[in-house]
Amino acid sequence: MLSHDVLVIGAGLAGMRAALEARRKGVDVAVLSKVHPVRSHSTQAQGGINAALGEDDSWEKHAFDTVKGSDYLGDQDSIEIFCKEAPGDIIELERMGTVFSRRDDGRIAQRPFGGAAFPRTCYVADITGQVLLHVLHEQLLEAGVRVYEEWFATSLIIEDGACHGALAMEIRSGQLEAFGAKAVIMATGGLGRVYEPSTNSLISTGDGQALAYRAGAALMDTEFVQFHPTALRNGILVTEGARGEGGYLLNSTGGRFMEKYAPKMMELASRDVVSRAEQTEIDEGRGVDGFILLDLRHLGREKILERLPQIHELAMDIAGVDAIDEPIPIRPSMHYVMGGIKTDVNGVTLLPGLYAAGECACVTVHGANRLGGNSLLETVVFGRRAGAAAAEYVSGVAPANVSATVVSRDQEMIKAILDRSDGADSVASIRMEMGQTMNRYVGMFRNEEGLQTVVAKLAELKERYQRVGVQDRGRVFNTSLLFHLELGNMLDLAQAMALAAGHRKESRGAQFRRDFPQRDDENWLKHIVVRYTPEGPSLDYSPVSITRWQPERRVY
Ligand code: FUM
Repeated sequence: MLSHDVLVIGAGLAGMRAALEARRKGVDVAVLSKVHPVRSHSTQAQGGINAALGEDDSWEKHAFDTVKGSDYLGDQDSIEIFCKEAPGDIIELERMGTVFSRRDDGRIAQRPFGGAAFPRTCYVADITGQVLLHVLHEQLLEAGVRVYEEWFATSLIIEDGACHGALAMEIRSGQLEAFGAKAVIMATGGLGRVYEPSTNSLISTGDGQALAYRAGAALMDTEFVQFHPTALRNGILVTEGARGEGGYLLNSTGGRFMEKYAPKMMELASRDVVSRAEQTEIDEGRGVDGFILLDLRHLGREKILERLPQIHELAMDIAGVDAIDEPIPIRPSMHYVMGGIKTDVNGVTLLPGLYAAGECACVTVHGANRLGGNSLLETVVFGRRAGAAAAEYVSGVAPANVSATVVSRDQEMIKAILDRSDGADSVASIRMEMGQTMNRYVGMFRNEEGLQTVVAKLAELKERYQRVGVQDRGRVFNTSLLFHLELGNMLDLAQAMALAAGHRKESRGAQFRRDFPQRDDENWLKHIVVRYTPEGPSLDYSPVSITRWQPERRVY
């Protein structure tokens, strides 16, 4: 059995930041990831990271925008910490070597982003996540943190009611190993691939949420799913930075239709508002072949190539459009989950010894709708805090007496999958049906009938999943087996999301119910908490922390 004080699962920004912090506190840390760290989904983050650095800005203004963006469901005590600590984390990232884009006076440049009253988003052109990921990877190498690359975690090790490590499969050999640890930090990112299409990488399959959920940690706010307003036809993201730099959204009449939906903030209203507006235009026949047009032409060649070079290239490659001369056809696509493993501000979950940070966690600073640029920030603020808290925790914990035979549990589970006969059904078709069903019924617009349809469909897919086999029965780089295991994780999470969406009888942030179109603070100003039971998900509530901003009507 391999053993470390702290095992971080996931090597995106939250995982690497957590590992670095725990290492700085002097404990033995390892990171385990199903991909090489710089291939983590954080690399897809384009537009930037928020912090109140500007002369006229303040952490309070950032916090208010975040609370309002969350449709008053974000926990305000967590949001205050988040926004207060943001500037320090940005400066630290800069000192680690991040080459942020600059103003003429040499200070870090900040661009406007949706739902923000100030230009607050620091950026590196439109490759911010990629640059941060490389910077943190260098830091990790320098700190000598051991990284188990291309290992897939199959379950958590629970002894005496606490988490003491994880079982994981080395993808290269198919070998299962037990990783004993005094604490585990889950930092596996989002679960976008529960939807089809999605802006998320193919690896975003919610593995960490599923493992934690089954092991006894609760999930929270799972009904809130963000659709990004600007994605290309295959789901690839076009950064909000494009609108932040001044891009317009046009319908088939050539009009900037956002003046109807958000007269003050226009294209930079919060994402839930802009995405629903776009879809309404498309549904009411004012789209262009099922798309909306993102017009950057007036920005001019120089600005487009300097600030949005990746978008220029992606639009050319995927839509066949040169954004300097033509508008880009875009439409909303599933992008982010506000919900995740319920934690406090130190990443502490309801399962002793298990911590979580980043998109897989729910602190909750995003509430019912996240502001663009707050996701990268969450990875570094709460990654750092979770790393520190886990390091402190392990100093008072004795290693568990984990039997090396614990791996046999997952060995048997994997053998059972490999031994199944290869019938007509396939992992790919179950996954596609799940994704399309979730997109249709647990998407931007929902109603009771659709939500009941999806719950029934998921039950059918789960039943088919129990019987489906894989074509490749080998052990070496068996990606068919990997996809099978990922699908099992996604189906459990999809069920939790659909049930919570059906349970919440109101519209708030990213959840818009046509049958309950109003926000209902009297009955629903609370979080829905979902726990795993062998009979199915069980739902409960958690209160919302309100410190200084009383709920108001949200207009942009
Ligand atoms: O639009 C974007 O660049 C995405 C940013 C985010 O999701 O925070």
